[in-house]
Amino acid sequence: MPPSTFTLNNGQKIPAIGLGTWQSPPGQVKSAVSYALQNGYKLIDGAYCYANEDEVGQGLAAAFEKGVKREDVFVVTKVWTTYNTRVEVGLDKSLKSLGLDYVDLFLVHWPLLMNPDGDDDRFPKKADGSRDIIHDYNHVDTWKQMEALLATGKTKAIGVCNYSKRYLEQLLPHAKVIPAVNQIENHPALPQQEIVDYCREKGIHVMAYSPLGSTGGPLMTAEPVVKIAEKHGVKPSTVLLSYHAPRESIVIPKSVTPERIKENLQLIDLDDEDQKLLREYSDKLTAEGKLQRFVYPPFGVDFGFPDKS
Ligand SMILES: NC(=O)c1ccc[n+]([C@@H]2O[C@H](COP(=O)([O-])OP(=O)(O)OC[C@H]3O[C@@H](n4cnc5c(N)ncnc54)[C@H](OP(=O)(O)O)[C@@H]3O)[C@@H](O)[C@H]2O)c1
Repeated sequence: MPPSTFTLNNGQKIPAIGLGTWQSPPGQVKSAVSYALQNGYKLIDGAYCYANEDEVGQGLAAAFEKGVKREDVFVVTKVWTTYNTRVEVGLDKSLKSLGLDYVDLFLVHWPLLMNPDGDDDRFPKKADGSRDIIHDYNHVDTWKQMEALLATGKTKAIGVCNYSKRYLEQLLPHAKVIPAVNQIENHPALPQQEIVDYCREKGIHVMAYSPLGSTGGPLMTAEPVVKIAEKHGVKPSTVLLSYHAPRESIVIPKSVTPERIKENLQLIDLDDEDQKLLREYSDKLTAEGKLQRFVYPPFGVDFGFPDKS
C-alpha cells in the first residue's frame, strides 16, 4: 500500500494525498470540501487567488460540525502575487475567509510581483491591457517575509510553488528556513525530474498539482496510463494519482464530484514494470520536445523551467 503520510523537513506529518480546489465553483466547493473531509481526506489545498476560500471555509466548518477535528486536517493556502510584498496581509485575508486561526502550510504561489496598487486585487492590468507586473522585484525578499511568519503561529510551515531548480538555487543560499514544500505541476507528461531530484536532495517535499492534466483530466487517455489501468483493473485516474507515491511526492487532485473525490483516495502500488513504462513515456515526450505543461499563466516571466526557457 502506498504511504498515507510523509514527514516534512520541520518534522510535521503531511498526508500523501489531498483535495485541490482551483476552479471548484461556488455552490459546489463547500460540499466538496465537507464531503472529502468526512470521507477520508485530511488535506485541503486552496489559495487566495482561487476566489473561493470563503466557501472552502464553509466546507471546513461543515466538516467540523460533523465531528472532524481541526487538528486532523492539514490546510494549505498560498499568498497571491499581488501580496508578495506583504505576505502577512495575504495570510490574514485567507485565514479570515477560511475561518481559521492558523494554516498548516503557507506557500508562495508564484515567484513574481503583480502591482499591489493596481486596478485589480488579483489580476491588475496596465492601460494597454497587459498584466501589471513589477519587474523590479526579488523573490528572495518574499521568502524573508515568509520566514518571519513562522513566529506568528499563523502557519506551521512555509513553502513555495512553481519554483524551478534555477529559482531554488537563487533562493536557498539566502534561506534561514528551507521551504518545506515545492508545489509544482507534475505528472508523467511533465515529470520535472530535475526539480524533483533537487528537492529531494535539499529536503523539500514536492506536492504535485494538476496530476490528471488539469481541467477535464486529459492525461487519463494517455496510452501507457490506460494500459497500466487495464492491467490492474483500475481507472486511469488511479494510475496517474498513484504515480507520485514512489516519487515520495504528495498529490492533490481536484474534484467536485463525490464519487470521484472518493475514488481518488484509492491509490495502488505501481510495480517496476508500470513505473518503467511511465518513465519511458516521459523520456519519449522529453526527447521529442512534446512535454505537456497545462498551467502556465501568461506572466511573460522566465521562471527557469527548461521546457519554457
Ligand atoms: N500552485 C499552483 O500554481 C497550482 C496550479 C494548479 C493547480 N494547483 C492545485 O492543484 C489542484 C489540482 O490540479 P487541477 O485542478 O489543475 O487539476 P487535476 O486535479 O489534474 O484535474 C481536475 C479535473 O479532473 C477531473 N477529475 C478529478 N478526478 C477525476 C476522476 N476520478 N475521474 C475523472 N475526472 C476526474 C475534475 O473534474 P470534476 O471536478 O468535475 O470532478 C477536473 O476537471 C488544484 O485544484 C489546486 O488546488 C496549484
